[in-house]
Amino acid sequence: MPLLDIKNLTLEIETANGWVKALDKINLSMEANEVRALVGESGSGKSLVVKSIVGAINEGWQLTADRMNWRGQDLLGLNQSKRRNVVKDEIAVIFQNPVSSLDPTASLGEQLEETIPDFLIGRGWFWQRRQRRKQLVTRQLQKVGIKNHDLCLKSFPHQIPDDICQKFMIAMALVSEPKLLIADDPTRGMETTTKGQILKLLARLNQTKGLSILFVSHDLLAISSMAQTMTVLYCGQTVEAGRLKKLRKRPLHPYTKALLDSAPSFSKDLLPKSDLSALPGTIPTLQHLPTGCRLGPRCPRAQKECVKIPSMRRIHEHHYSCHFPLHRPIR
Ligand SMILES: Nc1ncnc2c1ncn2[C@@H]1O[C@H](COP(=O)(O)OP(=O)(O)O)[C@@H](O)[C@H]1O
Ligand code: SF4
Ligand SMILES: [Mg+2]
Repeated sequence: MPLLDIKNLTLEIETANGWVKALDKINLSMEANEVRALVGESGSGKSLVVKSIVGAINEGWQLTADRMNWRGQDLLGLNQSKRRNVVKDEIAVIFQNPVSSLDPTASLGEQLEETIPDFLIGRGWFWQRRQRRKQLVTRQLQKVGIKNHDLCLKSFPHQIPDDICQKFMIAMALVSEPKLLIADDPTRGMETTTKGQILKLLARLNQTKGLSILFVSHDLLAISSMAQTMTVLYCGQTVEAGRLKKLRKRPLHPYTKALLDSAPSFSKDLLPKSDLSALPGTIPTLQHLPTGCRLGPRCPRAQKECVKIPSMRRIHEHHYSCHFPLHRPIR
């Protein structure tokens, strides 16, 4: 049974121009031990997918799906707060810019102690419980490779460097021993050495603890070093998904090809809201969504049929959504 199994997730949100589908039939699945990359230009809906999974979307937005299961349990049958409770202990999320995700008025030690659930502390006298709490806090810091425990725990978020802060966020996220870690652009804006350390840590957690990771990123180099599978989004639609090696070698969707062509050696980040070097124009805003395939106005292979939404097709484990995929000649 997959850990996460999402089919045709659609999120409608209200804009100045009325209701629009910010996410339109997104498919995403995760197996135990898997590291899946979720990629796409800025504005393609990656963070909205993450928020939909953990139940952190605005009240009033309309979320529907043919299937949205977590370890076999239907999440859609639950309201947002129940959904949050179900996933709270089993799915952890870390965001880019860790400093702003932490409370600036409390020391890191206080914040980490607060996240430790009572069942991990057990029973006993208060000093025994306090001692147990301290042991658990230290163990968490060891897990993520933070060495100077005392200094780190006494510090406030703005007093420590970025890499330690992101490692600390990962330590907080792992307290409840989640089955899935969602890392939403965790290394954005970090310099190369720091980025390398965070990626190494995530890879180690996957290999030694069997932690599944949904790795949301712009950084194709990081993705290629971490992920086994990849899902590509464009403007709220899933355009292609499959084994990373296959997608790199033989993309079937014009957008995936443009992404790969814009970073030929996989050695630079995708540019945010950019002209991809292989495609003209920029990603549309929610107020100006094209009908049918949303890549249409930018797509070199677009034809009349593309005003209809292409359905998802598959060749073995390789899924793509395009009327004129690259392996078929255009008439
Ligand atoms: N709270 C919001 N209200 C209105 N529009 C939003 C909101 N959050 C995201 N969007 C829009 O939804 C689209 C997808 O955003 P997002 O998921 O943040 O993209 P990504 O994470 O891929 O950069 C963008 O067009 C963005 O402007
Ligand atoms: S469906 Fe049409 S517009 Fe969309 S990617 Fe395929 S060829 Fe291009
Ligand atoms: Mg985002």
